[in-house]
Amino acid sequence: MIDVHCHLNFHSFEKDYDEVIKDAFEAGVTKIINVGTKIDSSEKAVELAQKYPNLYAIIGVHPHHADKLENNWIQKLQSLAKKPKVVAIGEIGMDYYSYKSNNIVDPKLQKEVFIKQIELAHKLKLPLQIHNRQAGKDIIDILINHKSLILNPPGMFHCFAGSIEILKSALQMGFYIGFDGNITYSGLAPGEETDLKDLVKYTPLDRIVTETDSPYLSPLPYRGSRNVPSYVIITAKFIAEIKGITFQDLEAKTTKNAIKLFAL
Ligand code: NI
Repeated sequence: MIDVHCHLNFHSFEKDYDEVIKDAFEAGVTKIINVGTKIDSSEKAVELAQKYPNLYAIIGVHPHHADKLENNWIQKLQSLAKKPKVVAIGEIGMDYYSYKSNNIVDPKLQKEVFIKQIELAHKLKLPLQIHNRQAGKDIIDILINHKSLILNPPGMFHCFAGSIEILKSALQMGFYIGFDGNITYSGLAPGEETDLKDLVKYTPLDRIVTETDSPYLSPLPYRGSRNVPSYVIITAKFIAEIKGITFQDLEAKTTKNAIKLFAL
């Protein structure tokens, strides 16, 4: 079982990431990918990947930080991307949801920063790990307009949410689809119109990857407390149930998908 998207590089794990990593491997997780959201957290993800076997890093600038760019940020990302065990550029994309802690960043800026990173990924032959919140249509349009920069496989949509239409477009372009602990919640998230379970049903098994987004989005019964990579197993069991297959089968297929996508 692989967690293809978590943030052990965030403050919430500062004091005990050693233990959290050990717990995950003991529980049956085999590989963990930590994801940056700006330069410093990307650096931390790379550091962790260098420190532990079976940890990898994805580096990038999240749309929330598109209005707080450091000088030479793209050059900094480029040199980080060349470090060993960096397997993708992410989490990058667009976000039109208004959070308590973060207003919507100017979509024009978000788009510029997203495109610069698509160009970087193309240059370095790395797949994309995409963040989308209520911006699916614009993301698909950007990807279509930059088709010549998209690799095969192109990457994945992390923590997928949105309509079946957007999902169809992402699958058609060859993207893998990541699901998290929020698929165990009942009801719709604010602003969403499609049940995540229906999106899981629609996504073919050879395109699903498992993730936690730790420390966020703990699956039931841990909703509200800190998420950890070992809980990826809970989410995987839930997906197996929706798909009507055994956990072992789901584990084998999603592990194969992640290894193929990220060349792990
Ligand atoms: Ni994340």
